[in-house]
Amino acid sequence: MKLNKNFELIKDNYLFHTIALKTEAFKKENPTADIIRLGIGDVVLPLTPHIVDAAKKAADEMASIETFKGYGPYRGYDFLLNAIVQYYQDNFKVDIEPDEVFTSCGAKNDIAAILELFDVSNTVLIPDPVYPAYVGANIMDGRKIIYMNGTKENNFLPLPSDKTKGDIIYLCSPNNPTGAVYTREQLKQWVDFAIKNDSVILFDSAYEYFITEDLPRSIYEIEGAKKCAIEVCSLSKTAGFTGVRFGHTIVPKELKDLNNRWFIRQSSKHNGVSIIVQRMAEAVFSKQGQKEAKQNVAIYQENANLMKKTLKDLGIYSTGGTNCPFVWFECGKDSWKFFDNLLNNAHIIGTPGAGFGQNGEGFFRFSSFNTPENTQKAMDRFKKFLKR
Ligand code: MLT
Repeated sequence: MKLNKNFELIKDNYLFHTIALKTEAFKKENPTADIIRLGIGDVVLPLTPHIVDAAKKAADEMASIETFKGYGPYRGYDFLLNAIVQYYQDNFKVDIEPDEVFTSCGAKNDIAAILELFDVSNTVLIPDPVYPAYVGANIMDGRKIIYMNGTKENNFLPLPSDKTKGDIIYLCSPNNPTGAVYTREQLKQWVDFAIKNDSVILFDSAYEYFITEDLPRSIYEIEGAKKCAIEVCSLSKTAGFTGVRFGHTIVPKELKDLNNRWFIRQSSKHNGVSIIVQRMAEAVFSKQGQKEAKQNVAIYQENANLMKKTLKDLGIYSTGGTNCPFVWFECGKDSWKFFDNLLNNAHIIGTPGAGFGQNGEGFFRFSSFNTPENTQKAMDRFKKFLKR
């Protein structure tokens, strides 16, 4: 028996596990400290009434022999696939078909599992800085990664050039961690590149719900994208499902044989999402669910606005926040040192930019997923911390 050697190439714990360990150690030393968490993008507001009602009704259905359900369809129930199709039509003017939608336990699972469709010899283009899960999944599989530089100079939005090479391209827009969002023209460049080079784009749209400006929320708003892009999304941030777990992946039928192959993969390795969660997700995509989701998201958006304003008043360069729950700012040379100082002196947890890649060094990320009260308190402490 041989172990997967690729794991030896993974030097550190998963970023947010490292942060959790550091937080636990600090709490042990300082049991009375009032820690404010602006680190991992984890929601704090409870599920909204319409979603909770749907969960209760679904649980009741499972308690009666007439309405009880066992294994469901592999992609998800029609009621949910149709609700997602309708959501794409209403919000993005994009036509997708129910059998192009696959429901899942969240974007993180699918963005890694989908790699099984591709030969390990393919090279992978990944922006830097980036959500670390993309990198980990590809290292574990043994793929060659080529990093694309996201910097202040290109507004953290790398674009293809004549020299760009890559078979699998990860794009996350709005971007985690920088909050930068590609315009339609910029995404068109990526779509054209992918079609020309026979590449596939894995488009992570987990933060689309936070877009407030006229920017693309789905890659399928771009002409040609169905020929080259898979889109992965999640209700974690949209509707507070980080603990519930739900996502969906769109694999267009025009994209080689990938829809068929993903179905084969899913039906062989996955028995679908819990019926209770599917009913909850259906409720999110309903009119009432959307109204309630928007109310919660507006609270996080206000938090992000307060963070942006605080940084601006302090004269600190920042991006994100306007179309994304993350605010990304310059913090000085060593972002892990900044993390420790901020935790020790202001009892605030954030995320060091270095955790998102080399180009993240010198930057820091705040998440706006907290209550307005805690966000205000954190910003007051942050100002004092910087003026020490
Ligand atoms: C983040 O904060 O970047 C994500 O929510 C963390 C994750 O999904 O692992």
